[in-house]
Amino acid sequence: MFTATDFIPTPYTSTIEKGNFEWSAPSNIALVKYWGKKDNQIPANPSVSFTLNNCKTITKLGFEKRDISTSLNVTNSFSFDLLFEGKPKEDFKPKIQKFLERVEVYLPFLKDYHFTIDTQNTFPHSSGIASSASGMAALAMNFMSLERNLNPEMTDEYFFQKASFLARLGSGSACRSVKGNVVVWGNQANIEGSTDLFGIEFPYAIHDNFKNYQDTILLVDKGEKQVSSTVGHDLMHNHPYAERRFAQAHENLDQLISIFENGNLDEFIKVVESEALTLHAMMMTSMPYFILMKPNTLQIINAIWKFRSETQIPVCFTLDAGANVHVLYPENVSEKVLQFIKDELVVFCQNGQYICDKIGAGSIAL
Ligand code: DP6
Repeated sequence: MFTATDFIPTPYTSTIEKGNFEWSAPSNIALVKYWGKKDNQIPANPSVSFTLNNCKTITKLGFEKRDISTSLNVTNSFSFDLLFEGKPKEDFKPKIQKFLERVEVYLPFLKDYHFTIDTQNTFPHSSGIASSASGMAALAMNFMSLERNLNPEMTDEYFFQKASFLARLGSGSACRSVKGNVVVWGNQANIEGSTDLFGIEFPYAIHDNFKNYQDTILLVDKGEKQVSSTVGHDLMHNHPYAERRFAQAHENLDQLISIFENGNLDEFIKVVESEALTLHAMMMTSMPYFILMKPNTLQIINAIWKFRSETQIPVCFTLDAGANVHVLYPENVSEKVLQFIKDELVVFCQNGQYICDKIGAGSIAL
């Protein structure tokens, strides 16, 4: 059994003065949702996601050893510049600062360097697509590349597990953005190696029906969310349905183990849509209660149900903590589903915008 202290490194054997690394990390879409957490970003229930392919963050980390003589009075603080799409972005700094504070015990070199974090997303900034998962994962990968230089003996297994562990401390769902194609995060009795500490690649057979599974993201509302995920997670404490919900997530994940193996898309759809609606039902039954869906979210859901019952095409939806709809379907029906999206769903998207994505392989060193 892993514990967090396994990720506190032994003294480094090597040194590096300066350099830079660059990683891309994708977004991911949960099928069984993480909603509710304990201290230290430990999830209240396990979750599983498809790693995406096109929606990603690309982050370059420049680093240079700080001059101890001039930095004597500042060694107690982190030193970094943050660039978003090439321009300084002060608003992002507090989130990074908090991340550095949380991971410092696991990356004891952080105060020895000045960092330049240069980051950009492949998806539009104000699309309502959360960039915290891909962003935190990309940053964690870069820090692990630096740590690997300080400890060249590091195994690949440790490298990726610790990257996911660090990403989790930045944003829970980020730990599922390190690896592909299907990632489990959270301890689940029937899934070997699963842990609350980091995401793992789903370790069992996955039917060809899920190969290149498609995710078209319909941008219903690109505005700032009224309630952040962090606040939403918190409202699961003392939530009247919390215990039953957490148990249900385990049951749904168990069901997905056999569905991934046998490729039964009808069963897949039931679990995935129920999870999406349950997530939003938890929001509606919190105190205070809130609704993140918009009228067009419901229009899209109803249109998908109608299309599915008329055509028998196995297309379904899932939702994040927002109004946007992820339309999920197998590759062999993409042409028909894309036509349906253009004909019937685009009218419900803000400025007619949607993003075509699919299952992907995880973070990549550039
Ligand atoms: C609804 O990972 O964004 O997307 O850990 O507070 O950063 P923090 O929350 P976050 O929550 C994601 C919630 C979700 C479901 C999911 O991705 O599993």
